[in-house]
Amino acid sequence: MCGIVGYVGGRPALDVVVEGLARLEYRGYDSAGVAVLADGKLATAKRAGKLVNLRGALEEEPPPEGTLGMGHTRWATHGAPNDRNAHPHVDCTGSVAVIHNGIIENFAELRAELEEGGHRLLSDTDTEAVAHLLEDEVKAGGGLVEAMRRVCGRLEGAFTLVAVHTGDPDLVVGARRNSPLVVGVGEGENFLASDVAAFIAHTRDAIELGQDQIVELRADGVTVTDFEGRPADVKEYHVDWDVSAAEKGGFDYFMLKEIAEQPRAVADTLLGRIGTDGRLHLDEMRIPDRELREVDKIIIVACGTSYHAGLIAKYAIEHWAGLPCEVELASEFRYRDPILSPTTLVIAISQSGETMDALMAVRHAREQKAKLLGICNVNGSTLPRECDGVLYTHAGPEIAVASTKAFLTQLVAVYLIALYIAQVRGTKWGDEVFAMVQLLERMPEKVEKVLETMEPVRELARSLSNERCVLFLGRHVGFPVALEGALKLKELAYMHAEGFAAGELKHGPIALIEEGLPVVVVVPPRAREVLHDKIVSNIQEIRARGARTIVIAEDGDESVEPYADTLIAVPAVPTLLQPLVTTVPLQVFACELATAKGHDVDQPRNLAKSVTVE
Ligand code: M6R
Repeated sequence: MCGIVGYVGGRPALDVVVEGLARLEYRGYDSAGVAVLADGKLATAKRAGKLVNLRGALEEEPPPEGTLGMGHTRWATHGAPNDRNAHPHVDCTGSVAVIHNGIIENFAELRAELEEGGHRLLSDTDTEAVAHLLEDEVKAGGGLVEAMRRVCGRLEGAFTLVAVHTGDPDLVVGARRNSPLVVGVGEGENFLASDVAAFIAHTRDAIELGQDQIVELRADGVTVTDFEGRPADVKEYHVDWDVSAAEKGGFDYFMLKEIAEQPRAVADTLLGRIGTDGRLHLDEMRIPDRELREVDKIIIVACGTSYHAGLIAKYAIEHWAGLPCEVELASEFRYRDPILSPTTLVIAISQSGETMDALMAVRHAREQKAKLLGICNVNGSTLPRECDGVLYTHAGPEIAVASTKAFLTQLVAVYLIALYIAQVRGTKWGDEVFAMVQLLERMPEKVEKVLETMEPVRELARSLSNERCVLFLGRHVGFPVALEGALKLKELAYMHAEGFAAGELKHGPIALIEEGLPVVVVVPPRAREVLHDKIVSNIQEIRARGARTIVIAEDGDESVEPYADTLIAVPAVPTLLQPLVTTVPLQVFACELATAKGHDVDQPRNLAKSVTVE
């Protein structure tokens, strides 16, 4: 995915755009570029690498000052991440500039046609074709908006485009299909961006653009039409967080801040959903109770960390709501002919609401007439628009690429949904649901307790910074936690890390154990005696073979002490809720280990915050 910013107003556009790019850099950091319109001329600057390189170039050679501009931060899809392929791209005459997020699937034929028509394309990107198509369409008449409409009609794939043209120096035009684009509405100035974070320092009034819409942005107004030119219905909203939420607030990394914010995020996600009568009220789900009673199967689709939340949801849904639940990687879902019907509830989990694999899975489920429920953190994103209902996680903006607070709040959301379905279907009595809800309400305090005791985990992480491999084991809901711990370590520390179901150990993975290999084991609560005792045996088995055991167990669990080289104690909580406390040490561990290795924790190599291409 990429980050896009557009601005028109009274201030120096370059400052607004570069500041916006800094807040969107989490979306891609292979290269960055800007275009400014000043005195009827287009000035562009672009550089491979992080935004700091572009800033350096702009300091060396500042472009003329203008009050209309746009900027782009890239996660490369077509063409290497170099200066030439960085956006903006311009046409042959240097009068049209365009930036893009997404993939234009028919770019090869468009490029061939343009080259045959005499255009000179200088990059290897799909985006550059759009600049030249716009050049032709602007020449054909009707202005930039009309030209954009005609060009969009020729494009296949996913795209958010923003373009400017010297012939209309007061206008920024945006087009949206499949990739996000929001408008920031200011006083005598307006903004366009992939995410409100880009303009939150200037305005909290936003307009959510829909699928296949074109926005005409001028300093004194915003007009939105569809690809056919008809006025479009848009949703205006007020962003309920401010600029401080999108800043590091004294922490070295966003990830550290986001880990620390987890007790608040968990509490906020519970807020307003529990009635004074002790019953759950999830009206936003917009799926009538009558239909929920008819549901006979739940399928959860998600990617990455959100998929791990889905795996934990399965245990809660089957246990509390008594419904069969499958969990599927969104990228695999539509390729396996899943059997769906109007009584299947598909739950899509996505922090960003923009992950293309999740969106495609949702569209596939819609075609099969299933009911659709989204769990999402970003207001105004695509996923909620495509589902029948949505439960928002109130984690606030998550900017570090590695997901932390979004994961914990996704867990809260799935617990709420599982308990709500149990309440509606009567698979748990009202007092049972209420008792569990009360325990959930105590979780922010428990997570806080974990955070207070993390210094030994940080020390441990630093001591392991030269290791090449770490394994993670868990059982029951501890298994997805093990997967999540391994994912965090891969993406941040670039280490080989694998999560296994502890019961699978003897079916192969135990062959990996060798002298000194660090193995993190997530131990279920003692109350789950069978599971607990089995994993204690697993710890003994790997220790006997030389593993260095790092054991996460509930406070006071003395039975694991003799076999733990390092013991990390977490507060005792019910089994199904345990991931809320056992995940946190693994986040801290990965973050500290990556820092010790000198990695950029917020922007790990090759990654972007959400994956908006398949
Ligand atoms: O925005 P989403 O929740 O749909 O993103 C899914 C994954 O791309 C995401 O969780 C990814 O795995 C994170 N970088 C993990 O920390």
